[in-house]
Amino acid sequence: MVDVECDNKRMEQLVHMLRREVSAINLTACEDSPAPHPMLSAAPSFDFGDMPWFPRKIADLDQAQRVLMYGVELDADHPGFKDPEYRKRRETFYEIAMEYKYGRPIPRVQYTPEEVRTWGTVFRELHKLYLRHACKEYLDNWPDLVKYCGYREDNIPQLQDISVYLKKRTGFQLRPVAGYLSPRDFLSGLAFRVFHCTQYIRHSSDPFYTPEPDCCHELLGHMPLLANPSFAQFSQELGLASLGANDHDIERLATLYFFTVEFGLCHQDGEFRVYGAGLLSSVSELRHAITAHEKLKRFDPEVTCKEECIITAFQNAYYYTDTIEEAKEKMRKFAGQIQRPFGVRYNPYTQSVEVLSNAQKIAALVSELRGDLCIVSNAIRKIHDVDDSVDVHGLASMLAKGIRVDSSEDGDDEDKDDDDDEKHSLDHGKEDATATRNGHQ
Ligand SMILES: [Fe+2]
Repeated sequence: MVDVECDNKRMEQLVHMLRREVSAINLTACEDSPAPHPMLSAAPSFDFGDMPWFPRKIADLDQAQRVLMYGVELDADHPGFKDPEYRKRRETFYEIAMEYKYGRPIPRVQYTPEEVRTWGTVFRELHKLYLRHACKEYLDNWPDLVKYCGYREDNIPQLQDISVYLKKRTGFQLRPVAGYLSPRDFLSGLAFRVFHCTQYIRHSSDPFYTPEPDCCHELLGHMPLLANPSFAQFSQELGLASLGANDHDIERLATLYFFTVEFGLCHQDGEFRVYGAGLLSSVSELRHAITAHEKLKRFDPEVTCKEECIITAFQNAYYYTDTIEEAKEKMRKFAGQIQRPFGVRYNPYTQSVEVLSNAQKIAALVSELRGDLCIVSNAIRKIHDVDDSVDVHGLASMLAKGIRVDSSEDGDDEDKDDDDDEKHSLDHGKEDATATRNGHQ
């Protein structure tokens, strides 16, 4: 509800402008005024009741910045605790993050020679391990990061350059953050393809240890994967599942994020490869995870969400899937159980989250999707005419599965049959045509 005080002419102008922005406007005059100022309210689309607030527009992320720890204060056991220079430096980064507003360029930072040396030490050691242990999706994007974002041993890349690059590749954008965000706020950013990214670097006294995420972790661990369309979609779907979820579900989703995006592995060419950023930014834990075969378990959201997340030591278990697509499919099934009386869908054109809370909204979305499905079926037909290898059956099966609304046991059994078809087609690199179009631009 918006209270407005102005004359009638201005009110008319305001209503005219608002009609372009909201679906319904009710004007109510003040009762006790002889020449009433009309009162204006946008009809609510859904009664959210006690549900936790969540951002609906990308600019709402400005309100979702709860830093839990390591903001500007450091713990007594932080390597930089007794270094006044370092603490002062951290204050600078804190201010950049706290003053940041959506849509502004991320301020560039002039890193000191000492900071660049720390970065170089970490970069050099990790880079030796990537060719051997990083997954294909990670390695594929590395040359572009070198070319467009200045990934070099003697240069700490700027968040703004990476953000511009990612936006072009997958629609992801970066946002500077002062420290550990609350899981709810961090996950809600992913729903909008916004990744909260620290800009400061760990203390130079111990280049291979940091008790918190820093730019070595973010830039070397996360960025190459966020440039992969499939992984970007996986990340966003985790975020969308979190919107409005209760605290218990947020905790479970945060754990699943932890054991996939931070510590996940996949199976490629007969061996385990790493896609988790926590591993790809830690020399010792990367070596440990890849050799600790007894700790490797197949990713199962129902089991994995109960695993303990360990921050200051190696994990008790690491989870793998055959592909990122497999992780995505499993997460989708899990997300279907989140207690929420509506669906959410990201609209990339308006950069907002649509709450699918009634038949009318769903009908409008189906009508829109129908346009996309026509594009897909026309393309399949045309390509099939010139290329017999198009797996029409596999693609049709994926489409059929995408629309299934029956959650009964029978439906689950059928899913298993479809999974085989799906894997077959995915193995051939087909695009997931059943995707909810979240963030496809
Ligand atoms: Fe991370």
